[in-house]
Parts: sequence; C-alpha cells; structure tokens
Amino acid sequence: MRRNSTAIVTGGGRGIGQAICEELADAGVDIVIADIDANLMEETASLVRSAGQEAYPVQTDLSDFDSVRDAVDQAFASCSEIDVLVNNAGIAGPTAACEDVDPQEWDATLDVNLRGAFFMCREVLPAMKERGYGRIVNIASVTGKRPLVNRTPYATAKMGLIGFTRTLAAEVGRHDINVNAVCPGSVDGPRIRSVFERQAEATGRSFDAVEADVKNESARGELVDKRAVANTVRYLCSDDARQITGQDINVSAGKVMY
Ligand SMILES: NC(=O)c1ccc[n+]([C@@H]2O[C@H](COP(=O)([O-])OP(=O)(O)OC[C@H]3O[C@@H](n4cnc5c(N)ncnc54)[C@H](O)[C@@H]3O)[C@@H](O)[C@H]2O)c1
Repeated sequence: MRRNSTAIVTGGGRGIGQAICEELADAGVDIVIADIDANLMEETASLVRSAGQEAYPVQTDLSDFDSVRDAVDQAFASCSEIDVLVNNAGIAGPTAACEDVDPQEWDATLDVNLRGAFFMCREVLPAMKERGYGRIVNIASVTGKRPLVNRTPYATAKMGLIGFTRTLAAEVGRHDINVNAVCPGSVDGPRIRSVFERQAEATGRSFDAVEADVKNESARGELVDKRAVANTVRYLCSDDARQITGQDINVSAGKVMY
C-alpha cells in the first residue's frame, strides 16, 4: 500500500463495504465513503477515524451520473489524489422468473451494480492515468460466474462487472493501474440471515436447515467472513499484488472453484 494514500469505497456505510473501509484504514489509508445513506456513512466514518485515518463521507447515488461526478469532485477537493477505488455498492435486485421481472427493477439492479462502477471509473481514471498509478477493485460475486436461478438482473450485472474488470485491466495496465474483481460467496451477517428467515418461512423448513444447505454448498462448510473479503481487497491494493490484474478472485470458502 502506498504511504498516505486515499481510497474511495462505494457502499461503505455497512456490511462488506464497511469492513473494507476499516481494513484499508488499518493499513493507513484515508477513506472517502461514497454511500447513498448519510446515517450509515457516519458510523463508518467514526470507525475510520478511530483507526487514526481521515474519513470523508460523501453522499452519492451511484445510479445517477451527476451525483457520481459531484461525489468524485468532492473527493478530489478533500484529498488531492485518489490511489484506490473500491466499487463495492450493490443491491440484490428482484427474485423472480425472468418473465416476471419488472423492467424498472431490471434497470435499477444494473444501474447500481454495473453502471455505477463504470461511472466511478470514468470519473477517477483521468487523474490515475495522469499520475501513472491506481488500484481498482470491483466487488462482484460468485454469481458473476455461475447461474443463480430467478436472479437474472443480479447475475447479469455481476457477470458484466467481471467483463468490465478484464477489459478495463487490459486498457489501463500500462499506466500502472490494476483492476481486479473479488467474488464473495455467501457472506455472514444480517442480510443473509434475513434471507434465510424468508426462505425458511416460504418453504416451511427451519432456519437451521436452510442455513446448513447454504453452508454445505461450500468446500469448507462455512459462510464467508466479511473481513476475509476486506483482507483480499487490502492485498490487491498492496505492492505485493503489483502483477495481479484482470483477475476475479473468489472468497467463497470453496463454493466456486473457477
Ligand atoms: N452479502 C453477500 O453475501 C454478498 C455475496 C456476494 C457479493 N456481494 C456483493 O458485495 C457488495 C456489498 O454487499 P453487502 O452485503 O455488504 O451489501 P449491503 O446491502 O449490506 O450494503 C450495501 C451498501 O451499498 C449502499 N448502496 C445501495 N445502493 C446505493 C446507491 N444507489 N448508491 C450508493 N450506495 C448505495 C447501501 O446504502 C449500503 O451501505 C455488493 O456489491 C454485493 O452484491 C455480497
């Protein structure tokens, strides 16, 4: 990690994004937290400050290009250089058979998960190219690699994000800008627990049975710890990972192996 570096982390207000903010702050990085939810960002900002780093919460709606442009302008006004961009924010989108997916929900899912990452890269890249340095990490999913039935918008967005990652990596590598994707499996936390609850309710099975099925999909029989995802992001931004670019790295406890 470069000394005195600065990272923008989208969706840094909670969950995996918050863990990434904490991990990078622990590595001595100042953090611009770009999230749609101002209250959530304040919590993350205090964690970053407790780690001794500067935190700059910038309210951003990733589905709105003007909002992203304003956020990046604010980031550059607060910190002259951006070394790292983590495109983490994402929404699950609808769960429905393809023919029942509302076109607006399709658009909303692709807007946040895919177009938002493009918007951020578009705005941050000129300065990274000028400096000849940058590290971009896109948080995709194992669903970017294999089907997830009844989740066509999410899977399409995450598969697109991996394609975007590879193509951009090939485009900007000569500027010492690395672009990688991290693909988490099922991450432990309130979000997955409420999914288990809903599935248990819908199928008449117990919460424990639903949870066990999901755990059993992975080689290690576990859910993923969000800190393991954050730790991988930190590694990809470190000098040790200098020659790793254009990759999509699973952190899935062995759920997906390609
Ligand atoms: N949780 C999992 O099991 C899992 C598995 C694989 C991949 N992922 C991916 O990891 C990323 C983070 O997931 P999470 O579970 O921590 O999510 P989360 O829902 O806990 O947090 C998402 C964050 O993004 C923010 N956000 C949502 N819409 C936004 C918008 N339009 N503009 C700006 N910010 C917005 C939210 O306010 C929130 O702070 C997502 O891209 C998700 O697809 C998660």
